[in-house]
Amino acid sequence: MDAERARNEMVDGLRTAGRIRSAAVEEAFRSVPRHLFLPNLAVADAYADEAVAVQVTDGVATSSASQPSMMAIMLEQLGLRPGHRVLEIGAGTGYNAALMARIVGPAGAVTAVDIDEELVDRAAVHLESAGVHTVELVAADGAHGHPPGAPYDRIVLTVGSDDVLPAWVDQLVPDGRLLLPLALRGSQLSVALDLGRDGVLRSDSVRSCAFIRLRGEAASTDVSRRLDGTGVTLLAPDDLAEPDPGRVAELLGEPRRRRDAAVPLGAVDVWDGFGLWLALTETDACRLLATEAETSLPDELFPLGPASGTVALAGADGLAAVVPTEPGPGPGPVAVREFGPDGAELADRLLAAMDEWAVAGRPGAPDWRLTVVPTGVDAPALPAPRVIVKKHCRVLAEPAARAAGRA
Ligand SMILES: C[S@@+](CC[C@H](N)C(=O)[O-])C[C@H]1O[C@@H](n2cnc3c(N)ncnc32)[C@H](O)[C@@H]1O
Repeated sequence: MDAERARNEMVDGLRTAGRIRSAAVEEAFRSVPRHLFLPNLAVADAYADEAVAVQVTDGVATSSASQPSMMAIMLEQLGLRPGHRVLEIGAGTGYNAALMARIVGPAGAVTAVDIDEELVDRAAVHLESAGVHTVELVAADGAHGHPPGAPYDRIVLTVGSDDVLPAWVDQLVPDGRLLLPLALRGSQLSVALDLGRDGVLRSDSVRSCAFIRLRGEAASTDVSRRLDGTGVTLLAPDDLAEPDPGRVAELLGEPRRRRDAAVPLGAVDVWDGFGLWLALTETDACRLLATEAETSLPDELFPLGPASGTVALAGADGLAAVVPTEPGPGPGPVAVREFGPDGAELADRLLAAMDEWAVAGRPGAPDWRLTVVPTGVDAPALPAPRVIVKKHCRVLAEPAARAAGRA
């Protein structure tokens, strides 16, 4: 297949879907040959709108060329301009760095860091074959940023992080922008954060995403745990108060009532809409993923691509999970299944949260605003349940209308 035609078809698709919105991002996608960054793939596959794993360790992808749709969304969030100095953490194949180099032009500078030396060597070959000579590649742990090139107008992570690390904030110019896939209580959001003169970062835009996690010094601790004997994996953040995963496995064996809910939900609502709302408003929120064909659950879960899953509230002696009553691809009626002695009380809370989410207009990722206060920066007291405390910062999550109203 002709590479230029395949590339233009991919770009046309990204434009039609609203992923590419600006002329600068479109021009970059049209001119940088993605297939040269994925030399082991057939041309048609290199221009499919899909992520491609390029390094797999113990059955888990540790590097991938991200999905073009997601790359376009993030490049639009980043707001690059000619002359910008950019740091990318997660160089991978070098493709995103090449796109950014195209946008910032000869007056700008792109430095791309990857923790894996072999990947950096391969990225250098790809960039050379694509005729891109303006990207500086560095093999290092991006947890430290890259001080020699600081300050940067933009810092972008193309790898998921649990926290906003001090090095990244310190290496931004005043008013600079940090864009990163940030894990928040089991959800991952691509957040464009603008650094204010007061040292506080405020989101300009928020989108859902699903990135490989950071390795090295700032490696993610917010991981999934298989629940033995259930066929289910628990995705729970570090600050899930209780119970421990062993108890959750026992609770799944103690199903009780199933109560109909008033709010219809589809898989996307469960994961990115209501699921995100629950994660950002309840410290007991968690997610359940069916990781085997057979589970011990009494109900089906929602279809989520290759797997199925749902959201739940977990307490010391109970669990309540959202389940579809007429499983299918689109939005439909749902119920709440109680597990264990405290299941009824948790189900009350889950049903009330669903009603609140519906009254708020069924917000999804783009409807949230995040404020990140780095540790050590003075800020007014933040209202309790919506604050997520990390090691290096506090994150306040508010629905967009409320944040705008306060401004
Ligand atoms: C999704 S891939 C990035 C894709 C890349 N932007 C591209 O265009 O191909 C994530 C990358 O982050 C890298 N990574 C993981 N932990 C890192 C760290 N601590 N510092 C720098 N890079 C890291 C991985 O090795 C992997 O190559």
